Amino acid sequence: MSNPLHVVILAAGQGKRMRSTSPKVLAHVGGKRMIDHVLDTARQLKPEHIHVVVGHGADQVKDALKDQADINYCLQRQQKGTGDAVSCALPDIPEQARVLVLYGDAPLIEVAQLNELLQTDENNLAVLTAELKDPETYGRIVRGADGHVARIVEHADADELQRSIREINTGILVGPAQLLRDTLAQIDALNAQGELYLTDVVELTNGMGKTVEGMCLVGDMATRVVQGANDRIQLAHLERAYQLGKAEELMIAGVQMLDPERTEIRGTVEAGQDVIIDVNTILEGKVVLKDGVIIGAGAIVINCELGPNTRVQPYSVLEGVVTEGNCDIGPFARLRPGTELAEETRIGNFVETKKAKLGKGSKASHLSYLGDTTIGKHVNIGAGTITCNYDGHHKYQTTIEDGAFIGSDTQLVAPVKVGKNAVVGAGSTITKDAPGDALTISRARQKSMPGWKPRNQKS
Ligand code: UD1
Ligand code: CA
Repeated sequence: MSNPLHVVILAAGQGKRMRSTSPKVLAHVGGKRMIDHVLDTARQLKPEHIHVVVGHGADQVKDALKDQADINYCLQRQQKGTGDAVSCALPDIPEQARVLVLYGDAPLIEVAQLNELLQTDENNLAVLTAELKDPETYGRIVRGADGHVARIVEHADADELQRSIREINTGILVGPAQLLRDTLAQIDALNAQGELYLTDVVELTNGMGKTVEGMCLVGDMATRVVQGANDRIQLAHLERAYQLGKAEELMIAGVQMLDPERTEIRGTVEAGQDVIIDVNTILEGKVVLKDGVIIGAGAIVINCELGPNTRVQPYSVLEGVVTEGNCDIGPFARLRPGTELAEETRIGNFVETKKAKLGKGSKASHLSYLGDTTIGKHVNIGAGTITCNYDGHHKYQTTIEDGAFIGSDTQLVAPVKVGKNAVVGAGSTITKDAPGDALTISRARQKSMPGWKPRNQKS
């Protein structure tokens, strides 16, 4: 039987260069906090425990994650380096455990690469490395003649020759708790940064006559997944890398993206076949797009489930919307939570809906507010129709039954009901129920007075 896996996520650093009042690991990438990306990835490994080392802004981090009961927090009072940070978690980790170290500010690492790292000998130390075109200021991997990792040299401590090495330390490593305990007890801060480096455990492990495995990532994927964010410029690069990865996933799944660099995905998108996503679009939260859905330019879609062949025309904003299929929305429509559109409904420009259900084939083509409303099948809502759902204290329902025709510029003062096949004359203010199969009209009569002149005008 293999040893229980314990994941340690380092999140105690201040992230000074972010120049933020909130701890770095709470910064968002793809609409999700960096630490949450790492936690979600860690959970997929099914570890026995997840330990998060907090320090700078510890209370803020804990508060942000308070709904996640499976996290054990370890406090690192002073940020003395990554080695010290891991030492802070060790008292909570059993002797026979295997420890995987992840970084709260490197959110793009994927479960596939971690699983591969975990394939290494569980009684030995293994580090995840990457070969980069530009090794920047990462720690450099020094390999011995036998190909194993001899030591890791931090950029600040490296000489010219070492800096020319393009294999870098991702920071991620795995090893037996006992081995980390033994080696971390020996590290010192005699280096360029005066810190207790976690990376020093590599040389110390070699010194104990053990070998250290180095699993090296290569290619574009390597460049993407190792990225961390130390300042806001790197955070922006990280966001771009993340977005490109998400766009590629969608395109591989069969989505046509007019420009993968001009769609933002801040959540999860599940897409059917022949979905088209135009430019400058934002998909947020949990979004489901069934076959043939078209998302027009500039549209924002948040927590929606859009049925087959639903067309969202440009600059529409949808949140919490469910459509059945063949619906036509926008341009410039605003659909708020609780909007449910049956088949073949149409919501046109400058129409706002909230908690509104439209039955099959119903239309509100222009300039309307439909709130707290249930609308039957084949109803026509004329331009300028407003459901007056709020009296300053409470919200009230409007019900419009099948086949009704609401004339333009009608106010429906809720609670109110319009019966089946009713016609409401344009310009009406409806304060009482309008019966079915009848014309209801409430407006001042139009009069014309021939020969009329203003009083002060002489003949
Ligand atoms: C570290 C590695 C470097 C590697 C790089 C990858 C060391 C000594 N160096 O450098 O080899 O290439 O990551 O990104 O490990 N942290 C704490 N407590 C501390 C110090 C740091 O929790 O006392 C946390 C930070 O919040 C951060 C992570 O550890 O999440 C990494 O710390 P950072 O100072 O950014 O390390 P690097 O200098 O980037
Ligand atoms: Ca870093």
